[in-house]
Amino acid sequence: MSKSSFNRALGEFIDASPTPFHACTNMREQLLQAGYEALDEADAWQLERGGRYLVTRNESSLIAFHLGAGPVADDGLRMMGAHTDSPCLKMKPNAVTEQGGYIKFGVEVYGGVLLNPWFDRDLSLAGRITLVRRDGRLHSTLIDLRCAIAMIPSLAIHLDREANNKRNINAQTMLPPIVGLSGKGGFKLQELLTEHLKAHNRLNDGDKIVDFELSLYSVQGLSSVGVKDEFIASARLDNLLSCYAGLRALLDAPKGHGRLLVCNDHEEVGSGSSAGARGNFLRSVLGRIAGDDETYARMIARSMLVSTDNAHGVHPNFSDRHDAQHGPLLNGGPVIKVNSNQSYATNSETAAVVRQAALAAKVPLQSFVVRTDMGCGSTIGPLSAAVLGVRTVDVGVATFGMHSIRELAGSDDGIALAKLLKSFCAMADLRIGTDS
Ligand code: CO
Repeated sequence: MSKSSFNRALGEFIDASPTPFHACTNMREQLLQAGYEALDEADAWQLERGGRYLVTRNESSLIAFHLGAGPVADDGLRMMGAHTDSPCLKMKPNAVTEQGGYIKFGVEVYGGVLLNPWFDRDLSLAGRITLVRRDGRLHSTLIDLRCAIAMIPSLAIHLDREANNKRNINAQTMLPPIVGLSGKGGFKLQELLTEHLKAHNRLNDGDKIVDFELSLYSVQGLSSVGVKDEFIASARLDNLLSCYAGLRALLDAPKGHGRLLVCNDHEEVGSGSSAGARGNFLRSVLGRIAGDDETYARMIARSMLVSTDNAHGVHPNFSDRHDAQHGPLLNGGPVIKVNSNQSYATNSETAAVVRQAALAAKVPLQSFVVRTDMGCGSTIGPLSAAVLGVRTVDVGVATFGMHSIRELAGSDDGIALAKLLKSFCAMADLRIGTDS
């Protein structure tokens, strides 16, 4: 796969995945097309050696695995992890309000949103809707309006001369997007959603919307940026870029050794949910792959997790925000993230495994450590390592503007991460010898 076709496919995936629900559905589709079998956590599983399976939880977290030809206790699993969620604005349950002749939506801030870039964007709405069928059964379906229905207009500079010096954003009062003019008959969100679902054959006569989880997103798709197309710009590069690179590695790596991809929801809010990395989703699936405690312990001791999440590239206008010795460049290759306080799970052994994989794949690597006088972000890596007891390393693609509605990454780095992960999946033995 060439860099441009990788980035084109990445763009199609991200553009079609405005929410974790959509990201999971789109990954699931690609896996099914490749011959993976969908499992249901509620069913009895009969897993076979060499088999390929996928399972989702809450429709927002996904685990897919390709079992090796040999016993899993002897071979372990080459695991890759990422997260499906991105910081955004979510609709409140009673979202519709009217003020000053306009209709607005009440929104909640999900995760560490960089709020300024959300102003003056063409926004649409997507998410999950739960319906009650005519026979009383509940059913969930996804929705994506795709067209721009909302905007959070900036206040003109003439009305706020201090806007460029000190602009504080009150999330409750300044963020509600404007979606129309209030007038005769008012506006009913239920009607807009019902109409859209009907037009897409997702709602039958007699079905009623019971509840929803909807997010706002920018309708601007992924684009190529730079005088020589050096960059890609998009929403949700954190962390759908890593989800997609992991998916490609899972699908494209040569057969032989067991491998697994986990994409968790709720990383941006601390992972504390049934679908998040603090929950038992992966632990439960691995338990069912192993079958008993002895096999589980042996399998885990021979496994490793590469937790993939974006890193901060050194922004040339703000380079003092980085340690001078650890400044990842866009297009400089995937970044190994280190934090001795375990905000990242990397250690010398797991980093060494990644360095070997990179060498085999001819992929350059960089390192990141936060400035010693600054706090550090985290990932699903340390959480998964603690829940599972698995050796883990944190890597990711360098980006600018993390958690903005439009982030920037190097156009070479996505495919480089996919190649690195593919090379990791092909590694024969993840054990490391010691003196003892
Ligand atoms: Co992230």
